[in-house]
Amino acid sequence: GTQKGAGEFSLTFKELPHGLDEHLAVAEGYQSQILVRWGDALFADAAAFDPQKPSEAAQLRQFGYNNDFIGFVSLPLGSDSSDHGLLTVNHEYTRPAMMYPGAPDSDKLSEELTRANIVAHGLSVVEVKKQKNGQWKLVLDSPYNRRITPWTPMQITGPAAGSKRLQTPDSPDGVQTRGTYGNCAGGVTPWGTILTGEENVDYFFGGDYSNSGETDNYQEFGMQSRHRGSWSKHFARWDMSQTPAEPLHMGWIVEIDPYDPTSVPKKRTVLGRYKHEGANVHINPDGRVVAYSGDDQQFQFLYKFVSLNRYQPDNRAANLRLLDEGQLFCARFSDDGTLNWLPLKVGHGPLTSANGFNHQGDVMLDCRKAAKLLGATPMDRPEDVEVNPVNGQVYVMLTNNSRRKPDNTDAANPRGPNRAGQIVELIAPKGDHASETFNWEMLIVAGPKDEPGTKYHPQISANGWLACPDNCAFDKLGNLWIATDGAEQYDVADGIWACELSGAYRALTKRFLRTPLGAELCGPFFTPDSENLFCAVQHPGQGSTFDKPSTRWPDFDDSLPPRPSVVVITKQGGGRIGS
Ligand code: FEO
Ligand code: CA
Ligand code: CA
Ligand code: CA
Repeated sequence: GTQKGAGEFSLTFKELPHGLDEHLAVAEGYQSQILVRWGDALFADAAAFDPQKPSEAAQLRQFGYNNDFIGFVSLPLGSDSSDHGLLTVNHEYTRPAMMYPGAPDSDKLSEELTRANIVAHGLSVVEVKKQKNGQWKLVLDSPYNRRITPWTPMQITGPAAGSKRLQTPDSPDGVQTRGTYGNCAGGVTPWGTILTGEENVDYFFGGDYSNSGETDNYQEFGMQSRHRGSWSKHFARWDMSQTPAEPLHMGWIVEIDPYDPTSVPKKRTVLGRYKHEGANVHINPDGRVVAYSGDDQQFQFLYKFVSLNRYQPDNRAANLRLLDEGQLFCARFSDDGTLNWLPLKVGHGPLTSANGFNHQGDVMLDCRKAAKLLGATPMDRPEDVEVNPVNGQVYVMLTNNSRRKPDNTDAANPRGPNRAGQIVELIAPKGDHASETFNWEMLIVAGPKDEPGTKYHPQISANGWLACPDNCAFDKLGNLWIATDGAEQYDVADGIWACELSGAYRALTKRFLRTPLGAELCGPFFTPDSENLFCAVQHPGQGSTFDKPSTRWPDFDDSLPPRPSVVVITKQGGGRIGS
């Protein structure tokens, strides 16, 4: 059985000490295997990885850069296989100066390299299989293998689809669109699709937007202030002076069906437009589906969506339309431990034409403005938000906020400045996630153990503290596995910590994994049996260059740069991860 007896501690692995070096390390008794690296072939006709000769043609047939989210779905569809399935992996962003010899991280990148660079973004879908010897293998040339790039044809669905504001030369109807990029985290739906979040899309756009008619929206999105790279120099699509509506095609949750390699990905506008970390779906007791999502920028908000229609276990075609109709809400936290979900509904409260909201599509396009007008609580950068399938509660990773002032804190965002983040638990009354009133509790306030204001179980070891929670996962017992992005500010590696969530050991975090130098740890995703843990090692060697990398993980070959890679962790001899 998966239930543990009262008082029994389920995370008995030997804790890994803090440290910081060029290697990935896991707790004693566990092993890691490199499964797929940037540049590895997905197809038999793919060129071998050659960092001296990057090209668009090669990259289109190879695994992309900077893997972040990982979703595992079992093969065949409907099974709960833990040794055969599809991995869908986000390729969030790139750093040309680390990828290509002598390349600049700027608009000086040549058109040829820019073309190669663009298709290093997006996603990869790959078939993976566990061999008899316990090693995982990527199935080369699987009919499921797929690259999704910033050029892939996609469709806009839901309340904003067809809006005049979305019309561009590529999209005269405001429905057709192309591509996804800036994909950070995501989720797997109960019907076996992948949700991927478009996050820091402002990086990619250049050009003057003062005549776009969208100046307030673009200012709210930070357009131009962090622009980097050469896409807008070589392609009118990313130049806002030439294609002023293009940024409105970005900032959505995209739903992808990995089981159908010919399927057209859908941008689900009913989930709102902002800098989505990801989105995760839960089936409410009444059958409606609830999706949680955070806007990962300083002082932005937490959201949930409640579908109009109900999940039907035997009707996948109907489930594929669930994320098109329903109601989006933003969160207001009160210091007394209540949480109100405020509906983002056109015509209600301040969401009227006087404020520029003429129809529901406008509310979706200007989600940040709408949530601010409704009085949502500005948060310390919401990253992953996931429902624990065992206890039914919601866990919100808030990563940090360097700009919060000491006199502008609240109970859910208690420190200013906030260097290390916190984890908040949301409690749906009687498990009803459609309720407009929840309760919330602070689970962990992260940072070095002895730093004032931190909150952990009092018995964590010297290695049990963490910083900057970003992604999370739950094992089959409902334990929380926390992945971090930012611990290196304290001279310890990022990685994974695990804790129980109830009983005497609640919030007793233990370190399980360390990333190599410069990397954050993303993904983490368990197979259904909790015996395999897929992890994305993103941006190893961050901050260095191709010619002088701070590490050459994972190849340690003097002719190769560091390569973001997906690794799979198993227990030596088999068994539940964490035992
Ligand atoms: Fe791409 Fe929210 O981290
Ligand atoms: Ca990332
Ligand atoms: Ca993230
Ligand atoms: Ca992050």
